[in-house]
Amino acid sequence: VSTLTVSLPPNLSHDSYPIHLEYGALRKLSSLIDLSAYSQVVVCTDTTVAPYWILPLSQGIQRAFTTISLEPGERHKNIATLQRLWEELAAVNADRKTVLINLGGGVIGDLGGFAASTYMRGIDFIQIPTTLLAQVDASIGGKTGIDLGGIKNLVGAFAPPRAVIIDPETLKSLPAREFRSGLAEIIKHGLINDRAYFECACASSHPDDATLLKLIEGSCAIKAAIVTADPTEKGMRKLLNFGHTLGHAVESLALESPHPLLHGEAIAIGMCLEARLSARVGLLSEDASEQITTAIARVGLPTEIPYTQSPEALIKRMSHDKKNSHGEIRWTLLKTLGEGVWDHTIPQEVVNDVIAASLKTSLHAQKDA
Ligand SMILES: NC(=O)c1ccc[n+]([C@@H]2O[C@H](COP(=O)([O-])OP(=O)(O)OC[C@H]3O[C@@H](n4cnc5c(N)ncnc54)[C@H](O)[C@@H]3O)[C@@H](O)[C@H]2O)c1
Ligand SMILES: [Zn+2]
Repeated sequence: VSTLTVSLPPNLSHDSYPIHLEYGALRKLSSLIDLSAYSQVVVCTDTTVAPYWILPLSQGIQRAFTTISLEPGERHKNIATLQRLWEELAAVNADRKTVLINLGGGVIGDLGGFAASTYMRGIDFIQIPTTLLAQVDASIGGKTGIDLGGIKNLVGAFAPPRAVIIDPETLKSLPAREFRSGLAEIIKHGLINDRAYFECACASSHPDDATLLKLIEGSCAIKAAIVTADPTEKGMRKLLNFGHTLGHAVESLALESPHPLLHGEAIAIGMCLEARLSARVGLLSEDASEQITTAIARVGLPTEIPYTQSPEALIKRMSHDKKNSHGEIRWTLLKTLGEGVWDHTIPQEVVNDVIAASLKTSLHAQKDA
């Protein structure tokens, strides 16, 4: 059992919220958080998660509730689904005293969180993340939102939940590929903050229950500390962008190809390349950079840009990144294994070189296969 707290400054929220982590938390929800004062309980989930986890959750809620089950997947994280969610809340006469419980991956958390933060100018919501990625990343930090016009997370709000309830039991139904994708963000937390934790994260792609609990707790603690220190991403929170500048570009190109990558897979590639960039500009040792690629490969995550992607297209995508400032790419890089730095600029030739080298390695591997 473990409880962490994220405190946000008063201008963002009136209070802080607990993150409760425990095997079996779902089935004992009402002993963890008092649901009795709410006029109504509504659960927002998706049609993949519902068959596995609505029943255990209903044992935890211990009172009548309504379920809204959405189609799964990123392509439904849009305005049409959001409208449906608002309309369904209205249809069940949800009022200001209604609580929305979001049971699912990051898509459900982002959509449900945004719906709750806007319905009647904001009702309470509880995040119950059911993917590893959502447990260690998406559910913490108060960002909610939807995609619009092909741009991820273009519209949204900072909105703290009442609580985040993490039950690692729910990961038992998660496909292995989704699990590894979440592991990439755990590895990132280690790389920017804590070397020993990084090594623990890379030790196995199938951690046992006790190690998994330790990893989820470690990541929640690292992310919670960072977002508490910098809730609106003025400085330190940019550390969390490590691997994401190149990673997002790789991810968005892959999504348009016949071989889409999961978010964590693209971030794994981004981390390998951004570690190499860190070495090229003299921040990180070559040795450490190679160690990162080796460790990421060992857990079964990709380490090179898909050979089908073009360097020009990648560079163009990066220039559209929300993280840019005054038309310049601001990189989060590594100084050592366990310490990141933010707001770095890098000469374009160096970026081009590192991308070209990765594509070459990737093409060779393809020919050998
Ligand atoms: N708000 C934030 O700070 C933040 C941070 C990182 C990512 N995100 C967002 O999170 C989303 C990605 O989250 P995700 O990786 O969880 O994707 P997801 O929500 O699409 O879930 C992945 C797939 O796993 C299924 N699934 C979920 N839980 C399951 C379970 N326990 N068993 C079996 N199947 C299960 C889902 O139905 C879905 O098909 C993106 O939209 C991203 O933008 C938000
Ligand atoms: Zn990410």
